[in-house]
Amino acid sequence: MTAMNRSEEATVKGQTTTGGACEFVASGSLAPCTLVIFGASGDLTARKLIPAFYNLYLADSLPKPFVVVGCSRTKLSHDAFREKLKQAVAREGNIDLGRWRDFAAKLFYQPVTYDSQESCQELADYLRDLDKKQNTGGNRIFYLAVPPNLYPVIAGKIGEVGLSREGRKGNGWARIVVEKPFGRDLQTALDLDKVLHKSFRENQIYRIDHYLAKETVQNILMLRFANTIFEPIWNRNFIDYVGILAAEKLGVENRAGYYEQAGVLRDMFQNHMVQLLALTAMESPSLFEDDRVRDEKAKVSRSIKPLARESLVDNLVLGQYKGGMADGKEVPGYREEKGVNANSITPTFAMMRYFVDNWRWQGVPFYLASGKRLARKETKIVVQFKNVPHSMFREVLDEKIAANRLVLGIYPEEEISLTFQTKVPGAKSCLRPVTMDFTYYQGFQGSPLDAYAKVLLDVMMGDHMLFWRQDGVELSWSYLTPILLECETCANREAQLHPYEAGSWGPVESLKWMSLIVE
Ligand code: BG6
Repeated sequence: MTAMNRSEEATVKGQTTTGGACEFVASGSLAPCTLVIFGASGDLTARKLIPAFYNLYLADSLPKPFVVVGCSRTKLSHDAFREKLKQAVAREGNIDLGRWRDFAAKLFYQPVTYDSQESCQELADYLRDLDKKQNTGGNRIFYLAVPPNLYPVIAGKIGEVGLSREGRKGNGWARIVVEKPFGRDLQTALDLDKVLHKSFRENQIYRIDHYLAKETVQNILMLRFANTIFEPIWNRNFIDYVGILAAEKLGVENRAGYYEQAGVLRDMFQNHMVQLLALTAMESPSLFEDDRVRDEKAKVSRSIKPLARESLVDNLVLGQYKGGMADGKEVPGYREEKGVNANSITPTFAMMRYFVDNWRWQGVPFYLASGKRLARKETKIVVQFKNVPHSMFREVLDEKIAANRLVLGIYPEEEISLTFQTKVPGAKSCLRPVTMDFTYYQGFQGSPLDAYAKVLLDVMMGDHMLFWRQDGVELSWSYLTPILLECETCANREAQLHPYEAGSWGPVESLKWMSLIVE
């Protein structure tokens, strides 16, 4: 990582603080490269990737030279491709037409039939030719913005036409970026890995989890390990439970084809939720360095107590949304959504109780909940501390004293808030909980870096910190696969799926846990 000290002025609740260890990317530190996007005519390219690159370009944070080659089966000219992306960027935000023209000159298009050797060979020739014309030094990133069933086909062909081979001494590097899902169970994850490794070595592979690129998620490690006051109490002696919530207000939208096969456990738990758990529970690595951080996260995954078949019922609640209200409008139930089977038993909500079987966390429950069509969009980690061991106020107060709570807000509040007890001013002895907040974007100046822009920069820099390593993927599937198998093959599958009203906080069966983390 490129770490530099920079003087930063931040305002924390009216006070101005100066100084701080910051890291930023100067485009000069990035090697020239070509980004090859497979699936360039698709949604991800238009909505996320190109807007992220355009913003990096505006911030002068792209390598020089840098070009994008879009590939897909559709036949398009370079100009038609540029025009399509111009409209997409304009839809996503403001566009400066003068600057767009300069940026668009870096965009090229090459139609590719993914399973055709001849077509992929043409792409290879085209890229080699473009390298010479644009001086990109043969450095290439292959971004698979395609459905996962095409990963093996494309990764295989990239290898067969020699595009995954790297030059010597770090020149002419080749990196491949894949998005989740990394398989749909342990076996398919292993199969996918085998295919990727036929052409690429592990350090050439970047498995994206966009949650890891969120500033507030990255901040978990900073909060825990760049301060002394939290770690001594970050354990079973002081913490009662941890809640991790990723609630969504939207339904399945236009992704029924994928979601029907995935369901909430594969879509959110195998990846994002388990990453949040690992960041909250991990030990401090000896250095802030990608493999050391990922080693510690892997240790957490290895320590998660497997759920025995017979204990599933006490530790997991699955649900599916019915029709209801969202933003004052009537919305359909999951089974009425376009592309969803009218008898679907795909869960759109899950709440699960995890235990991390190690010295630090023995006996502390981690409640993880995620679902679609819930009351609001909210992502947060709640660290609930234990009650005071002895209340000397018991004679003067009738109420129980609420224990301390630390909330790491990820969305929409990007903040850290700590609740503690204070005396209400006056003659009477009265306690009241108050909350001390730090709001991320009020506290720091400068525009936030979009999660996609952050991961794309890291791929260009060759930094793996925010990406999944294969052992992590396998550990996560090892835990989840038996649970999925049990849920998907049990005789009373339908009975295990609890309906909940759109706009609610999930099935009533989960409310006793949900009420611990939702206010
Ligand atoms: C994606 C899931 O990975 O994350 C989606 O596939 C989900 O189903 C999304 O909606 C949530 O991401 P965020 O950043 O909006 O919380």
